[in-house]
Amino acid sequence: MTTKYAETSVVYEKAMHWPPYTYRDYPKASPESLQEFMDMLATENTSNDRKELQPWIPFCTLKCNFCYFPTELISKNKMGNYLEALKKSLSRYAKTKYIKTSEFSEVYLAGGTPSIMSTDQTIGLLSFCEKNFDISKDREIKVTGCTHDFDYNKLKALSEYGVDQLDLGVQTFDDNIRRLVNLRDKARNAEEMIKTAHKLGLRVSIDLMYNLPGQSLKVWGSDIQRALELDVESADCYALEVYPGTKLAQQLQSGDLPPRADQGAETQMYLEANSVFKAAGYEKTCHNRFSRIPEDFQEPCMEVLGTGAGFFMGNLGKFSYVDIAPSEAYIEKINNGEFPISKLSVMSTDDEMGKMMMRLYIRLPVNKQEFKVRFGKLPEEAFEATINKLEKKGLIEIDEQEIRLTKLGDIWRYNVCWEFSRPQENSS
Ligand SMILES: C[S@@+](CC[C@H](N)C(=O)[O-])C[C@H]1O[C@@H](n2cnc3c(N)ncnc32)[C@H](O)[C@@H]1O
Repeated sequence: MTTKYAETSVVYEKAMHWPPYTYRDYPKASPESLQEFMDMLATENTSNDRKELQPWIPFCTLKCNFCYFPTELISKNKMGNYLEALKKSLSRYAKTKYIKTSEFSEVYLAGGTPSIMSTDQTIGLLSFCEKNFDISKDREIKVTGCTHDFDYNKLKALSEYGVDQLDLGVQTFDDNIRRLVNLRDKARNAEEMIKTAHKLGLRVSIDLMYNLPGQSLKVWGSDIQRALELDVESADCYALEVYPGTKLAQQLQSGDLPPRADQGAETQMYLEANSVFKAAGYEKTCHNRFSRIPEDFQEPCMEVLGTGAGFFMGNLGKFSYVDIAPSEAYIEKINNGEFPISKLSVMSTDDEMGKMMMRLYIRLPVNKQEFKVRFGKLPEEAFEATINKLEKKGLIEIDEQEIRLTKLGDIWRYNVCWEFSRPQENSS
């Protein structure tokens, strides 16, 4: 492999693709933790953090063979019953004091593949949210989806309703690889949808994946080039994680798919995206995003109220939660008048400190004084050994005010965050 970018020193054997403090690690909800959660919902929300409302549609028409998300295939008549239950669950939250005193700046129809809803169902759900929650006047509405589910009329209706942005799972514009990973439409259709959305005034953010089987640096370079030609407003670039149990993991193991490139090549692909997007006027933000959307550079939404079968991004106050799946189990819980929560994590102070260091993962600096005001000690006191180690490796830099990632640390930022989530040796 030829090395195009110099800053690739191998700090870790393998780049992590998944951050700490996520649903995969939450404990099962217990009657006590659920009661604590309900008690919290009965209090006023006094935080000024930005908040997001995330109704969750778990269904897809086809499972991409790499997908590690808890999605399910849609079958006839499932959507109607599901949406009824989803709205019941949203209403239950909306009636609590905590949510009545929360203003949401973003509504994000996520999943799964929300684009498989009909136009009426989509607009019905969005207007339900606007009627039942305090949504700020300058709110943003984003709808996730696959390009094969959209057509001109649906896009026009969404744009007329006031949707701001489509988040499209494009993954790659290479038709051979699209076929290998089970994407349903051809690149040409994906491109047409992006152009149509733009004509109708919608912003387009696309998901692109790199280090897919058979995807060389050259193919990845063409994917980036195509994104630029299509003038997308942002691109979320994900390195493929081969997750146990996915079809792709089996196909790689049996040799049905060509092997993926090694860590060095994967790092080169990240650096290629970094360099080409930057040269084209995009800035990096969030976990993997290259963007020219000003709103992407605001403080992130710290609280996420969501609900839906398999929804896993719940974050309210000190609580993080996951909803039960599949959809039948979710609907049953709702109809029994129960919260549909299956996993519920209550953050300890150590978790809260580790989570504050996670700002590095979304490429934001950690302000030392803010940390001290919140936890009574500086990050260097809470994470002495870890900070020394990361600084020595050239992954972070520290001054009087803040802790930031270095250029090298940017490449390894997931690994950096895992270091802060582990029990600390010398914490005082
Ligand atoms: C929740 S999915 C949304 C998928 C939705 N159906 C769509 O088409 O937009 C968000 C993104 O996660 C990424 N993703 C899914 N599985 C992945 C994996 N195994 N490794 C890396 N990224 C993955 C894909 O880029 C996907 O578009």
